[in-house]
Amino acid sequence: MKFYEVASYKEMSRKAANIISAEVITNPNAVLGLATGSSPIGTYKQLIEWYNKGDIDFSGVTAVNLDEYYGLSEDNEQSYRYFMNKNFFDHININKARTYVPNGLAKDPVLEGKLYDERIKALGGIDIQLLGIGLDGHIGFNEPNDVFMRDTHLVDLNESTIKANARFFESEDKVPRQAITMGMMSIMRAKKILLIAAGEKKEAVVREAFNGVITPKLPASILQLHPNVTVIFTKESN
Ligand code: GLP
Repeated sequence: MKFYEVASYKEMSRKAANIISAEVITNPNAVLGLATGSSPIGTYKQLIEWYNKGDIDFSGVTAVNLDEYYGLSEDNEQSYRYFMNKNFFDHININKARTYVPNGLAKDPVLEGKLYDERIKALGGIDIQLLGIGLDGHIGFNEPNDVFMRDTHLVDLNESTIKANARFFESEDKVPRQAITMGMMSIMRAKKILLIAAGEKKEAVVREAFNGVITPKLPASILQLHPNVTVIFTKESN
């Protein structure tokens, strides 16, 4: 594992964007596993800047997102599909038909999970998976649990996750209580993992995840078993 502690959010974003752009430049048909939240916004901004300069071409890239709130439609401003379009896809030359986010309105979330996993498998797996980390150690929306969930599944969100994500909503009671998230299998099968975390309040969970016991009570700790992980951490929050 490579662990970088950098001085600023900007530096974290630049380094993460560098790693992703290296992937796309060396493999123009890369499958990128992407994430939402405030952590990756700077990374996407940097990639858009390099795209505008003509340094990266996303035309052959496929994107697979980690998760989606259950019950939100694509055009809901708080949905993760909307977030990805607004913060990244609308500004680059990726083929939108090859950008995937779980369907938050799926009537049968079990079937949706199965189809999502089959899709990732059919794409040949994920070349590099970008991850943030929740205050409770979640990745995607894999909340602390008694077991590591293997497949894409519907999950009940923790109180602390609802509180932390309330800042993106009008009020806490508007935050959906459930989400569909990629499970550990697709994440762990990604060829490379790139986890970014910003802010002093994330420091304890990041250190525990990578130096502590591997346990589903701290879902990100499973990444200790992955052979190619890069962590970029900064105490500066964005
Ligand atoms: C959400 C997302 C995660 C993300 C986490 C941290 O819960 N489902 O993928 O890593 O938030 O978000 P932030 O980067 O805003 O701290």
